[in-house]
Amino acid sequence: MSMHPSRAIHIEQFGGPEQLKLVHVQVGEPGPAEVRIRHHAVGLNFIDVYQRTGLYPNPLPLQLGMEGAGIVEAVGAEVQHLQAGDRVAYASNPPGSYCDLRVLPAKCVCRLPDAITFETGAAMMLKGLTAQYLLKRTLPQGGLNPGDFVLFHAAAGGVGLIACQWAKALGLRLIGTAGSDAKCELALAHGAEHAINYAKDDFLARVKEITAGKGVKVVYDSVGKDTWDKSLDCLAPFGLMASFGNASGPVAPFAPGILGPKGSVYVTRQTLFTHIATRESTQSMADDLFSVVMSGQVQIRIDQRYPLERVQQAHQALEARQTTGCTVLTL
Ligand SMILES: NC(=O)c1ccc[n+]([C@@H]2O[C@H](COP(=O)([O-])OP(=O)(O)OC[C@H]3O[C@@H](n4cnc5c(N)ncnc54)[C@H](OP(=O)(O)O)[C@@H]3O)[C@@H](O)[C@H]2O)c1
Repeated sequence: MSMHPSRAIHIEQFGGPEQLKLVHVQVGEPGPAEVRIRHHAVGLNFIDVYQRTGLYPNPLPLQLGMEGAGIVEAVGAEVQHLQAGDRVAYASNPPGSYCDLRVLPAKCVCRLPDAITFETGAAMMLKGLTAQYLLKRTLPQGGLNPGDFVLFHAAAGGVGLIACQWAKALGLRLIGTAGSDAKCELALAHGAEHAINYAKDDFLARVKEITAGKGVKVVYDSVGKDTWDKSLDCLAPFGLMASFGNASGPVAPFAPGILGPKGSVYVTRQTLFTHIATRESTQSMADDLFSVVMSGQVQIRIDQRYPLERVQQAHQALEARQTTGCTVLTL
């Protein structure tokens, strides 16, 4: 089998950003259901932090990264939808996108429309498909309709700014939270109807005020530990608590009995990887994302770029809440 050299970022043990090490690896040929991609850009995501710290454990040593864009170099015999030379982008398990070249399962890899750059493709697949499934496939009783209020935490982040714009395009009244006034301005400029600086204001009181005491139909909560309790109290009766992350730490165990007096509310914990488990669902969600991006309804903001070898600084900034929008690693 011929081998191809690549730079890659590995961790040998779980820990802080200092565990991220640049190594040189050899990449082989794809298996029957796989492709080999030469990346042009790689996306950074908060899940990379959870995997680096071991909150989401994987076998070690581990090549991090769940998102990238580039050109297909080789395809396995069973792969029907791609060929060598295609421009592509993906969000995918298993991790391993922090590199120049990799082999991965083909089913999550989508052809990238010519109008979308590699950097945008790398920035938007994991975050944009997440916004897609949250707003379109994670629905409360009766669905979401134009005019409905939703609460979206960390609204100025990577997933957040995409969700603000997409929610507006759907006619939803999105209330965003963010950790500074500048971030709140950004959320408002991207379609949030209201923005609450939860570092200084009580978001529960503000949500009650904005919704005239009624509460919101859905809370999209990726912050976790710090926002969980008050988020449940922001819900209207029969509302949906959609937990999808733990940037401040995992949510503590709770008794289902508390959900009744709060208005018979629903709780779900979502992950993108259930939604993109098949080629068909991945492609239909990606087509939806490509269409809102190409129409201009959703713009993918890349506010930070780091060369691959500066990945430690990229992780430090993401964890320290210094980033807004998307971050890409350049090659
Ligand atoms: N389950 C899924 O399918 C799925 C998929 C994609 C992403 N996610 C989750 O969605 C969230 C957003 O992902 P992203 O990659 O776009 O990241 P991001 O939103 O760009 O960054 C995370 C943001 O969380 C906020 N935050 C609140 N408390 C924090 C704390 N103690 N430490 C660090 N950050 C804190 C910060 O914004 P403020 O300063 O404004 O508070 C920070 O900028 C993450 O929790 C991620 O795990 C889940």
